[in-house]
Amino acid sequence: MQTVDDAEQQVEFDRKIAEEQKIEPTDWMPDDYRKNLVRQMSQHAHSEVIGMQPEGNWITRAPTLRRKAVLLAKVQDEAGHGLYLYSATETLGTSRSEMIEALQTRKAKYASIFNYPTLTWADVGAIGWLVDGAAIVNQISLQRTSYGPYSRAMIRICKEESFHQRQGYEIMYSLAKGSPEQKQMAQDAMNRFWWPSLMMFGPHDSDSAHSGRSMKWKIKRQSNDDLRQKFIDQTVPQIEVLGLEMPDPEIKWNEERGHYDSGEIDWEEFYQVINGSGPCNHQRLKHHINAHEKGEWVREAVRAYRVKQQEKSAENAA
Ligand SMILES: [Fe+2]
Ligand SMILES: [Fe+2]
Repeated sequence: MQTVDDAEQQVEFDRKIAEEQKIEPTDWMPDDYRKNLVRQMSQHAHSEVIGMQPEGNWITRAPTLRRKAVLLAKVQDEAGHGLYLYSATETLGTSRSEMIEALQTRKAKYASIFNYPTLTWADVGAIGWLVDGAAIVNQISLQRTSYGPYSRAMIRICKEESFHQRQGYEIMYSLAKGSPEQKQMAQDAMNRFWWPSLMMFGPHDSDSAHSGRSMKWKIKRQSNDDLRQKFIDQTVPQIEVLGLEMPDPEIKWNEERGHYDSGEIDWEEFYQVINGSGPCNHQRLKHHINAHEKGEWVREAVRAYRVKQQEKSAENAA
């Protein structure tokens, strides 16, 4: 039940949202706004971190030293994105360890695309180009999200994502313009990552559980279907430049709409993967838990250092 005080705060909150002002951590906010943000932002953070695995798998096997250095930097950026986002989510009163536990016990989700395996080097190209490309479309829109720390994290992350997208496209371009075997590898990687990339935008607007409220609160600024269309429209000409065959035979320019038409996503597959039955769900979580356990000594050292610092400042104060 809302008290008179709450009602006043709600008016103030609504005014800020209407006037495109950011909501900051110390501002009053409705419980559901906070909950919704924690869900979306922690899911986003988990996706950045779990997303390191499919590409990390290729660091030791990158074809040249240059490719290796670039991929290493890219995967490291994703760890950084995870950190910004965990920190931004912590401003809502949720601790990092609570978020990690929710991920590891499958209470929290992450982008379903990272549950697909990376079978060839071309997959690293396809991920940078398509997966980071889809992420950018989504994240550019989120730069205008109503929660200040999330919005600011997105601005910084987007700068790095455009480098990721270009490094992926460059790999695809080299392969597509290479030997027939290399071109085939590029084609195959694109075919496999095309549909999961489209799924990254989430269900159709009409089936999206959280969309309505998130749009009202300006947490989300554009609908899943609009963002997906934007991604398709910008990516199809890039496929043409690569000289690859379309991954979906139904892709066709629609003069009347001014957009590309495309085939229907296999939603059955989407829900299966998001609910834990994708090809790599188990492997991804197992690896995360393992790495987390192995990192316990670092957390222990941080705690010991903190105690030492506190003792020191107590001594100095005495
Ligand atoms: Fe990222
Ligand atoms: Fe990225």
